[in-house]
Amino acid sequence: MKLFSPAKINLFLRVLGRRPDGYHNLASLFQAVTLGDELCFELGNRDQLTCTDPTLPTDKSNLVLKAADLFRHKTGLSFGLKVHLEKRIPSQAGLGGGSSNAATTLWALNKLFGEPAKETELAAWSSEIGSDIPFFFSQGTAYCTGRGEQIKALKPPAQIQCWLVKPPQGLSTPLVYSKLDLARLQNRDPDKALKAFLEGEYRYFNDLESAAFSAMPALSLLKQELIALGFHSVVMTGSGSGFFCTGAPHRSLPAGLFVQQVFSLNRPSGEWYVKKDKG
Ligand code: C5P
Repeated sequence: MKLFSPAKINLFLRVLGRRPDGYHNLASLFQAVTLGDELCFELGNRDQLTCTDPTLPTDKSNLVLKAADLFRHKTGLSFGLKVHLEKRIPSQAGLGGGSSNAATTLWALNKLFGEPAKETELAAWSSEIGSDIPFFFSQGTAYCTGRGEQIKALKPPAQIQCWLVKPPQGLSTPLVYSKLDLARLQNRDPDKALKAFLEGEYRYFNDLESAAFSAMPALSLLKQELIALGFHSVVMTGSGSGFFCTGAPHRSLPAGLFVQQVFSLNRPSGEWYVKKDKG
């Protein structure tokens, strides 16, 4: 079974506070996009993951194999899973690549075994291995709260087109959260931001930007450079180091960056995301 595994962007991301368990409460509008990986699944005697990107771990620490373990544990089924992962989503970018791969693996296993679980169960289970995984069980647009795992699925907005830009260096999510100065965040009301989006007035922002800039000062310079190139808005996605940029640049972008034009991507109920060139 071959499935597409899309990236996500955070159209806005508000951090509301630190929790006793060490996580942060968020309120964020997530959107799936047309950039994605491809995964090939085959049942076998043992778990085996291969990947086109040699820098990624293919052992039990990879979320694909964590998802297979989770599915075995929750359903009581025993199986081995052979997976080949064609990586296109840059890692440590805030694009949710690993989370998407985990969600896609759960979806594939559920199909391969005749749907022992409902999609809502897959979503709830998946939050045990990562806060951003349940989002992918929406239809591609969701308002996410709690650690990010509480999803309120929304109707897709009018098609969004943007450019994803990422420097070669990535950012670790725990490192970015450790740099966060909650007292310095603007006290924006996320429900108002959501309402504005639903009314077609898009306000992009990300409370993790300043923390990411203190972890990687060059990122702040890159944002200024991208704005100077003519984009309308340049906002970081997730905990970085990727940006999504709306509008179009007047000149070509500096060499050495990951640059990809994408569109918002949604899926029909009961089907998984399908690779598309346009949204
Ligand atoms: O849930 P996930 O494994 O993606 O989280 C990775 C790390 O990111 C956590 O260990 C935590 O440091 C940070 N995090 C957080 N608040 C969130 C999500 C993630 O502090 N809502």
